Amino acid sequence: MGMDAKRWLSAVAGAAASLLLSAANSALAAEPDCTRCHSALSKHKVVHAAVQAGCTTCHAALDASAIPHKVTGKVAKGLAAEQGELCLTCHDKEKFTKKVVHAALGMGCTACHDPHSSPNEKLLSKRVPDLCSDCHAKDDFTGKVVHAPVSGGMCVACHDPHSADRAALLAGPVSVVCLECHADIKKRPHVVSGFSARGHPIGDEARARPVADPLRAGKDFSCASCHEPHRSSFPKLLRIDPKAGMGLCQKCHPK
Ligand code: HEC
Ligand code: HEC
Ligand code: HEC
Ligand code: HEC
Ligand code: HEC
Ligand code: HEC
Ligand code: HEC
Ligand code: HEC
Ligand code: HEC
Repeated sequence: MGMDAKRWLSAVAGAAASLLLSAANSALAAEPDCTRCHSALSKHKVVHAAVQAGCTTCHAALDASAIPHKVTGKVAKGLAAEQGELCLTCHDKEKFTKKVVHAALGMGCTACHDPHSSPNEKLLSKRVPDLCSDCHAKDDFTGKVVHAPVSGGMCVACHDPHSADRAALLAGPVSVVCLECHADIKKRPHVVSGFSARGHPIGDEARARPVADPLRAGKDFSCASCHEPHRSSFPKLLRIDPKAGMGLCQKCHPK
């Protein structure tokens, strides 16, 4: 068990924790038996600290004295609980239960993570963005103009892979996310500022209520009202063909 894991386990208090600890302790004795036949599971560079605590920490309802093994509980593979619950015995539930939950969680944590070991950081079964492309069409992230962080595979720079309090699994309002990397856009001449004293209300300013996006029902006006966050057929990631000249403005300011 790594130092971090040890410190972590001993820091946890309460009945559930002591149950887990006793499972971990008894597993230490059983462990060599498991790895004799299953060594491949923990051979990769990144090994889950929970595995180092013992196989029966999670496979608590398994009698492995014969082959095939006997599942003594209700859950497949002799697991102590169904996946979400199993993993959240040790991992902070709050991170996975914010207002907007990624539908992928419904497919189990192992839709993305290997519970034992992995060649990839964070025990990911594949690296981002290949992991995301398993379920999200690649076409939505490729094309004529691709946003640099998207072509760089940095999906998790903008999205939380688990849950968030905002639509589209964003950490904050769209404009706040954008301005983290484009703070300069507010200083230079841009349709956002400089065109008028107030400029476009993009959602980062202190307003009692955000302004509605005139073109996209149900969404707040933001940088993403004019720009695609991922890819576009038009320069500067615009949603609307700028060759239309003032037509771009007239889409929202008809006259
Ligand atoms: C953190 C919890 C956890 C620990 C610790 C753990 N496992 Fe697993 N194991 C799982 C889960 C969850 C699955 C089911 C994976 C799935 O269905 O995708 C699984 C599946 C398996 C399987 C089925 C084959 C596979 O890869 O799906 C084997 C064999 C296995 N575990 C053996 C072990 C052994 C041996 C250890 C100790 C070295 C161990 N496990 C430790 C959670 C754990
Ligand atoms: C003598 C070799 C051997 C030992 C020791 C052993 N296993 Fe296995 N295990 C196997 C084989 C072979 C299979 C695949 C056949 C089967 O499905 O049962 C298997 C399958 C499994 C599965 C998948 C079961 C399923 O329902 O898909 C799990 C989980 C597992 N082992 C966990 C463990 C754990 C935990 C230990 C230690 C407590 C352990 N094994 C010890 C050989 C072994
Ligand atoms: C017995 C407690 C325990 C259980 C159960 C458990 N984990 Fe962990 N897990 C840990 C500890 C301890 C760490 C290392 C400290 C940390 O990063 O939080 C860890 C780390 C991780 C990491 C980060 C690895 C890294 O390299 O940073 C992931 C991902 C993870 N666990 C996923 C899961 C999944 C998925 C499950 C359910 C199949 C699960 N865990 C169940 C204790 C547990
Ligand atoms: C859609 C894929 C996906 C699913 C499903 C998923 N995760 Fe993750 N998880 C990720 C990615 C991607 C990261 C790395 C995030 C980063 O690098 O910032 C991660 C990171 C983690 C970490 C490391 C700490 C952190 O928050 O960055 C833990 C622990 C973890 N996941 C646990 C879980 C558990 C438990 C579940 C199931 C309840 C789960 N994950 C389901 C994709 C997923
Ligand atoms: C620069 C920040 C950023 C990056 C990087 C990014 N996204 Fe997004 N994504 C957004 C924003 C902002 C929205 C919501 C836009 C809106 O208001 O409609 C979004 C929406 C989405 C949606 C919801 C459906 C849709 O298209 O509106 C999915 C799915 C998605 N992103 C997946 C990904 C994946 C996969 C990657 C990596 C290949 C990625 N995103 C990279 C900012 C980003
Ligand atoms: C196992 C399948 C799976 C994987 C892997 C996966 N997703 Fe998803 N994701 C879904 C499903 C299903 C939905 C809901 C339907 C939809 O919007 O396409 C979704 C929705 C989303 C949304 C919109 C959420 C909302 O409610 O507004 C975003 C953003 C997103 N995923 C980002 C990502 C990113 C980033 C990754 C990689 C780290 C990823 N997804 C990996 C299945 C997956
Ligand atoms: C993680 C950092 C990051 C975030 C977050 C981010 N961007 Fe970018 N963006 C870049 C980089 C890097 C470039 C390319 C270098 C440059 O032109 O400044 C870029 C370029 C652009 C361009 C010019 C594209 C072109 O083809 O000339 C636009 C427009 C843009 N971003 C809009 C947005 C919007 C809208 C958001 C929020 C949804 C956003 N950015 C969030 C990093 C980011
Ligand atoms: C009302 C529509 C609109 C809104 C809202 C908007 N933009 Fe733009 N943006 C444009 C247009 C049009 C261009 C191309 C002309 C130009 O460079 O001024 C552009 C250009 C850009 C560029 C490229 C600048 C360069 O020098 O290449 C970036 C980066 C950018 N916008 C980021 C943002 C961010 C971040 C936000 C939100 C804070 C935002 N935009 C809000 C219309 C908009
Ligand atoms: C996607 C829709 C959209 C596009 C495209 C757009 N605007 Fe706007 N614009 C808005 C919204 C929404 C407001 C805020 C109205 C309010 O405050 O109720 C606004 C406000 C303004 C204001 C008033 C700011 C103030 O001082 O009160 C000006 C000036 C303006 N836009 C100019 C333009 C110009 C020039 C273009 C073309 C480069 C353009 N807009 C493109 C949606 C858009």
